[in-house]
Amino acid sequence: MASDDNTRNALEYDPSGVMMPETGLSRADLDWIAPRLEAARAEVLADLDCWHRGDPVPEEKQPLDAGFTDLPDRLLDEHAQAGEQSELGRMIAVAKRLRETVDRAVILGIGGSYMGARAMFEACCHPFHNEMPRVARDDHPRIYFEGNNADNAAMLGLMDLLTTEHAADDWAIVVISKSGGTLETAVAFRLFLDVLRQACGGDIEKVRQRVVPITGRSGRLRDLAHALGSPEVFDIPEGVGGRFSVLSAVGLLPAAVMGLDVVKLLQGAAEMNRRFREQSPGSNPVLDYVAVCHLMESRRGANVRVLSTWGKGLESVGLWYDQLLAESLGKDGQGALPLTVVNTRDLHSRGQQHQEGARDKLITNLVGQRYHPGVLTIERSDLNQDRLNDLAGTAVPEILEAAFRGTNQAYHDDRRPTADIRLEPLDEAALGQFFQMMMLATAVEGRLIGINPYGQPGVEAYKKNMTAILRGK
Ligand code: PA5
Repeated sequence: MASDDNTRNALEYDPSGVMMPETGLSRADLDWIAPRLEAARAEVLADLDCWHRGDPVPEEKQPLDAGFTDLPDRLLDEHAQAGEQSELGRMIAVAKRLRETVDRAVILGIGGSYMGARAMFEACCHPFHNEMPRVARDDHPRIYFEGNNADNAAMLGLMDLLTTEHAADDWAIVVISKSGGTLETAVAFRLFLDVLRQACGGDIEKVRQRVVPITGRSGRLRDLAHALGSPEVFDIPEGVGGRFSVLSAVGLLPAAVMGLDVVKLLQGAAEMNRRFREQSPGSNPVLDYVAVCHLMESRRGANVRVLSTWGKGLESVGLWYDQLLAESLGKDGQGALPLTVVNTRDLHSRGQQHQEGARDKLITNLVGQRYHPGVLTIERSDLNQDRLNDLAGTAVPEILEAAFRGTNQAYHDDRRPTADIRLEPLDEAALGQFFQMMMLATAVEGRLIGINPYGQPGVEAYKKNMTAILRGK
């Protein structure tokens, strides 16, 4: 499907602030790594072919969750051909049904099973979506996230909210777990389902209409959905790992429930796929990002990757990326430390260290402002003790821009390498590009450094111990 100019230009990666002597990189560094990047790209694309063909996967490549790579293209093609009958068409229909029947949606999931949805909610919805009247939300349900911890007060607090409002059955559960066996999510589902059943007065049909499971093709959640008689269960496809699943039903169904344009999201991702496949190092955002991150780590010891977001809309997008990078490449004693910061807020907590601390950081600015039709401006006041009349006529976005430019200037003067990713306008197309760019970059970097980016064997240890402790109590 052809993408429009907005989709094409929605994301720009600019590493020029990293090109500096002694602490940064040179043209020669980038030229040196270019053939290696092209080989890693070829390997990622070959992994996809191997996955499509169902070839046997060599031991060192298991698991091979390459299915995310062309998932956006496949979903869009199927939607273009089968419309309402397609996977995407079904998601849009379920989101519409929920919008018509409930006012609140509780999304249960942990890690890759909720972080993408949260990122989209914070980046694209009204900052106070849940507090706005229904009409101002264009009838889209309020959104809550649970099942991502074992926090008694947090769950009871949400239950208080769900049960004290006038219509106790005006809410739904979207439960997401690929394995279907993650304890935190399973416990939350058991508890919230009980509350929902009571709220529906035992009307099982009403309950069925209010529960949407998203899970792998087999497992405990799949069995539970079957026993419940859920009319719509969405698959997390085989070969798409948790933190690579944001552009499957895992992220798309919640996004549709929030009222986001899921087609535009996928078009953004498909556009990034095109850029990844076709563009050469030097003008390929995925390969250029990997080159800069990898070279800064290997040649300059920058093993802390600061994703420096500006304004308040992108914090959860950063946290989504923190998880992606940490769980994918933090293996075999390797892996850079991802760190999301929110500026200007964190200039007052971390700024000192980033300006003058150890030279172990690469800063990547993530720039993009949430949309609002209004613009706040400083007005003259007879109470000028704050001396702000000097700035009369200045708009709030200009203040953020000045902070951004001032910070970058200060980093540059101290030879602190800084790159930029711009998502402008910050909308579904830009986020689709960003999600896909980062997932591809993580896969490419994994192949470049010989780390399997898929799977998370290290997380199993805590799960095993926790279960043993609980069962032996
Ligand atoms: O990236 C991953 O695979 C993990 O972060 C999972 O998403 C997380 O552990 C949740 O797993 P599940 O969806 O099986 O409940």
